[in-house]
Amino acid sequence: MEQRRELTFKIRCFNPEVDQEPHYKNYNVELEQGITILRAINYIKDHIDPSLTVRFFCQAGICGSCAVKVNGVSKLACTTQVWDEIPLAEVEGTIVIEPLANFKVIRDLVVDIDPMIQKLKNHKAWVVPTTADEKMGEKEVAVQPEEFERINAATDCILCASCYSECSLCEVSPNFISPLVMLKTFRMNDDKRDTINDERLEIANHDGGIWDCTHCYRCVEVCVKNIPIMDAISGLRHESLQKNHDYTDGARHALAFKQDIEQGPGRLREITLPLRTLGPVGAISQIPFAVSMGLKGRVPPMFPHTAKDHDGLKRSILKYRKDHPKDKE
Ligand code: SF4
Ligand code: SF4
Ligand code: FES
Repeated sequence: MEQRRELTFKIRCFNPEVDQEPHYKNYNVELEQGITILRAINYIKDHIDPSLTVRFFCQAGICGSCAVKVNGVSKLACTTQVWDEIPLAEVEGTIVIEPLANFKVIRDLVVDIDPMIQKLKNHKAWVVPTTADEKMGEKEVAVQPEEFERINAATDCILCASCYSECSLCEVSPNFISPLVMLKTFRMNDDKRDTINDERLEIANHDGGIWDCTHCYRCVEVCVKNIPIMDAISGLRHESLQKNHDYTDGARHALAFKQDIEQGPGRLREITLPLRTLGPVGAISQIPFAVSMGLKGRVPPMFPHTAKDHDGLKRSILKYRKDHPKDKE
């Protein structure tokens, strides 16, 4: 690929003071290899359109403020190379830049992250220490390397909101806790200096909390720091069940699955899942939905699927029980 070439940056712009609707502007620029998306945007701002608005600070992948969508995927503008994006462009030579999704646009590429900050506050996503404020600094509270290891990856989160922007549940359900808040909840709850583990876990179990996540793994795919976010979500669910937070539909659903796998030869009893998850009244309320699904041919199989290697499944369950002796039966 050539070292220098002309490219088009198609940027989604919106100035609420003058625009009725967002619109795309095309900027043609000649750039050289080695330049980042953020530098390209700033080049356009400096030489073509000073009104173009973008947010950034550290320019080194640390502060998390420059996340935008590049060719449809949320990522950091300051660490993304223009040359890496050229093969990903839908239209040859045209790189599309848009603001993060699932947030209100303030102007051009800058979004209002206040709802995300409010969720962090609602979920108390900070350490509430054992040491009183007036005694702070007097005594060291050492965290051992093995204690830190569990939360090591989660501490890499820079709150860039790329995962928030890509989460399909944040799109349809604005009250959903969001991947990054679940990650922060996990990180704070596993910090030995923290004192409100139970309270934070209880909040995370409310409607719109950890049990609503659909396991689509999109947040894991896009995380700019490669953090295994699903491990944190699973960790929170596991801890919730251990501590008897089993009153939500999501928790009962997970327990019903576990029960089926443990009791049968790897067979899910889908017919009775709604009853065991929602109770009799809830299950009855699902009948119209079940009928409409049935009319579309979406019915549970007459003969439920059975795992071929039943002994292997039994071995896995025994190993799981051995590894998790305190797990809720
Ligand atoms: S796995 Fe859960 S939190 Fe992550 S993007 Fe999907 S629904 Fe959102
Ligand atoms: S989890 Fe990853 S993608 Fe999400 S805010 Fe943190 S660093 Fe960004
Ligand atoms: S400007 Fe700080 S992460 Fe990009």
